[in-house]
Amino acid sequence: MNVLITGGAGFIGCHLTGALRSAGCGVVCADNLRLGGRERLEKHLSDPGFFFYETDICDERRLGEIFAAHSFDRVYHLAANSDIQHGGKDPSIDFHDTFLTTVSLLDTMRRHGVKEILFASTSAVYGDKREALREDAGDLRPISYYGAAKLASESFISAYAAMNGLRACVIRFPNVVGPRLTHGAVYDFIAKLKKDPAKLEILGDGKQEKPYIYVLDLVEAMLSMNYPEGMDIYNAGVETATTVRRIADIVCGEMGLANVEYRFTGGAAGWLGDVPKFQYDLSKIHALGWRAKHTSDEAVRLAARLSL
Ligand SMILES: NC(=O)c1ccc[n+]([C@@H]2O[C@H](COP(=O)([O-])OP(=O)(O)OC[C@H]3O[C@@H](n4cnc5c(N)ncnc54)[C@H](O)[C@@H]3O)[C@@H](O)[C@H]2O)c1
Repeated sequence: MNVLITGGAGFIGCHLTGALRSAGCGVVCADNLRLGGRERLEKHLSDPGFFFYETDICDERRLGEIFAAHSFDRVYHLAANSDIQHGGKDPSIDFHDTFLTTVSLLDTMRRHGVKEILFASTSAVYGDKREALREDAGDLRPISYYGAAKLASESFISAYAAMNGLRACVIRFPNVVGPRLTHGAVYDFIAKLKKDPAKLEILGDGKQEKPYIYVLDLVEAMLSMNYPEGMDIYNAGVETATTVRRIADIVCGEMGLANVEYRFTGGAAGWLGDVPKFQYDLSKIHALGWRAKHTSDEAVRLAARLSL
């Protein structure tokens, strides 16, 4: 089986690449390297079953050449803006990197007759809802440009599936952590504490509480999905959650730091567009037989330990 991973040089993409190569798949990664890095794929660069293209996914001419050079059985669409705070300051970033990448990819798939896609979606499509989030929840009102661009991408995937016989699997990821992070609280806290081990600025009041999934648990879920006709949507996650303050405690503990002074910027949300608390209903994905092996706290601890 031959697959394309868009955003393959990013955090999740490089782990997915490793897992797919171990499973014997031919893997092509396409990434503009705006957030990811070629060094993440270093060990695959001399592998004859692996190809890397530095390109913007919105460049349909270049993308078409890549599709023409390889015969893809499936596409894993991970390319997006993952820096939500940065995207919050300039809406064009999510419009281009999170939404238009999807449109460009879908149309290239249509022109080249590629039928299977797994789309990396997000809890941000639900907006700020307090009940356990179910895939069939209605009235979705994202509160960030990022969430809006992902929900719009899901809509286009649904339409392309209906109009072109695509088999599409949408997975709504929660927060994902593990080695080789490119962003997020664990990444930020380690960077800040390396600069100044005496104090730590924490965005919000520290009480934001979300599920964190270990990246290899998520990759296992991604590899175990089915692709029936049309589009199917799954939450993937863990039943436990971790507060931001607890992440700070775990990171300090792993770095061997005591008595760090926490400085909270205040407010329930860490930044504009942040959903401070959510929890998934996971019954649909659990019914497939997949379950995360690590709890949220275990995932955060392992990510911190392996990032030092
Ligand atoms: N990490 C998380 O916590 C999380 C949570 C929910 C959803 N997701 C989704 O999972 C996917 C992977 O996330 P990640 O954490 O690995 O992020 P990442 O930033 O590490 O990886 C995304 C990759 O996409 C590339 N990219 C961005 N725009 C591009 C464009 N226009 N053309 C080509 N490449 C482009 C970046 O350079 C980067 O390498 C993303 O779609 C993200 O929205 C991630």
